[in-house]
Amino acid sequence: MRLQNKKAIVTGGAGGIGRATCLALAAEGAAVAVVDLNAEAAEAVAAEIREAGGTAVAVAADVSREPDIERVVATAVQEFDGVDVVFNNAGIIRRQTAVEIEVDEWDLVFGVNVRAIFLMCKHVVPIMEAAGGGSIVNTGSGWGLKGGGRALSYCASKGAVVNMTRALAIDHGPAGIRVNSVNPGDVNTGMLRDEARQLAQDADSFLAEAADRPLRRMGEPEEVAQAVVWLASDDSSYVTGAALVVDGGGIA
Ligand code: NAI
Repeated sequence: MRLQNKKAIVTGGAGGIGRATCLALAAEGAAVAVVDLNAEAAEAVAAEIREAGGTAVAVAADVSREPDIERVVATAVQEFDGVDVVFNNAGIIRRQTAVEIEVDEWDLVFGVNVRAIFLMCKHVVPIMEAAGGGSIVNTGSGWGLKGGGRALSYCASKGAVVNMTRALAIDHGPAGIRVNSVNPGDVNTGMLRDEARQLAQDADSFLAEAADRPLRRMGEPEEVAQAVVWLASDDSSYVTGAALVVDGGGIA
């Protein structure tokens, strides 16, 4: 039980990587606030944790909106009496070039993938500071470390996540708050199927392409979740500002 008595917030907690991480954090003893735009799916994840004997609450929220973030943090504090761990994981992708994407879609991607992390940190850092520290993990992407085709807004937003993570680590390290990013390669979630749909590609061939890497398969959400558990726990006590890559060795 590496996270006994810890209190966690997970955004995008109803999605593939988010749900797996909520379950993994709870299995290590953490109380979990499952945050997602999809209220019903968030409640289902929270119920799954409670049925297994854990502690969880679902919070329906649009993480790109400051009032929603304030409500998320207030709910976690009210329900659990503090916040030790935040996994800023909600994310969306638009498979479009600069010429194809409309300005409002660009802003939407940055609202969910980037602004939400800033907003969460704005409201949760003072609570962690008062408690003497905490661990924040942000979901970047392999495409935040190098470019990718026909996903300009996504690549730009995930590059921002990786570097804002380093800047947050510098600002808040002296208060005992560690901030790291986890950077998955292709992981078997709804997002990949959404990408195939956006690109009007056959899902099976799209997923086969995603498996073309040294380990010869896609990642599973649980494999990213275990990296997040490590970053959340004291096992990674001297790690901050890091970009941890979980990608099966990158595209071959
Ligand atoms: P997913 O689509 O299964 O989960 C994303 C979750 O975020 C969904 O439950 C969705 O409802 C939620 N969400 C979207 N907009 C939201 C908003 N405004 N407010 C609150 N919740 C919102 O996708 P997946 O794969 O689990 O993605 C999780 C993170 O991992 C994302 O940041 C994604 O960019 C990143 N990632 C995923 C990779 C993959 O291959 N699946 C690869 C690299 C990074």
